[in-house]
Amino acid sequence: AAAMACVAATPAQAAKPLTIGFSQVGAESEWRTANTASIKAAARQANINLKFADAQQQQQNQVKAIRSFIAQRVDVIAFSPVVETGWETVLREAKNAKIPVILTDRAVKVSDPSLYVSFIGSDFVEEGRRAGRWLLDYAKKNGDKPLNIVELQGTVGSAPATDRKNGFAEVIAGNPKLKVLRSQTGDFTRAKGKEVMEAFLKSEGKNINVLYAHNDDMAIGAIQAIEEAGLKPGKDIVIVSIDGVRGAFEAMMKGKLNVTIECNPLLGPTLMQTAQAVAAGQPVAKRITVQEGVFPAEVAAKEFPNRKY
Ligand code: AHR
Repeated sequence: AAAMACVAATPAQAAKPLTIGFSQVGAESEWRTANTASIKAAARQANINLKFADAQQQQQNQVKAIRSFIAQRVDVIAFSPVVETGWETVLREAKNAKIPVILTDRAVKVSDPSLYVSFIGSDFVEEGRRAGRWLLDYAKKNGDKPLNIVELQGTVGSAPATDRKNGFAEVIAGNPKLKVLRSQTGDFTRAKGKEVMEAFLKSEGKNINVLYAHNDDMAIGAIQAIEEAGLKPGKDIVIVSIDGVRGAFEAMMKGKLNVTIECNPLLGPTLMQTAQAVAAGQPVAKRITVQEGVFPAEVAAKEFPNRKY
């Protein structure tokens, strides 16, 4: 302890706090709100100066924010890319300015992987597979009848929409009685989820047995549409969605949602640790994933008090 006291810096000598520029997708969902809160709280706790920009789900706003972070010479840039493509130019600008970039939550498609140092976030393909596996199991337990599915996709061109669609399709291909009737984007929002579900109900009516929603918010919007159409969500139409937010647990406890596949938004602490390591010149893993579970309605009431978002 004595030695520590000798080397402790006085306030005047203390290292300048790290500055991170973070470009967030927007505030489209309960998941995103929890993700933003996690990032802001973790920055405060780590004494990191966070410059936070909300892109309102527009790629051009994210490009602008990243350019502004480069101009301000932040220590690290982090962002959750709204879509996967179109990042080469601005990421090259960051690289030329020698500012490391960390991806959180969503991936990018770039020909040169050295354009970012690390990607922290879920395995979205696996989430889609988990949704598919739950449905295969449900079909098996319920007499293996043919089931017509409608799908509410996330934002077009975003990694979670593409990956969750592919993971689910890969798994349900194992049962030819499971058929996707319609698949359309609801942009990860409640309002769009409701609107598109209304259109599905209009065109397909009582043919719909299952809704697969790429996030809980769209499922919650769709639940409203299903009820307004005089049907029982969770019973007349089985609902499978992704995220595991509080709203989904509330819907499950009311019997209106059948299962949610967890997607963990609490990425703040890992992001701050990774940024500090990168800034200190330490090696970091190129891909950092998170632990996630599957929560069917049967466990919702028991799990609800433990939920952190
Ligand atoms: O990228 C993660 C996804 O984006 C979440 O599943 C969704 O709710 C959010 O809008």
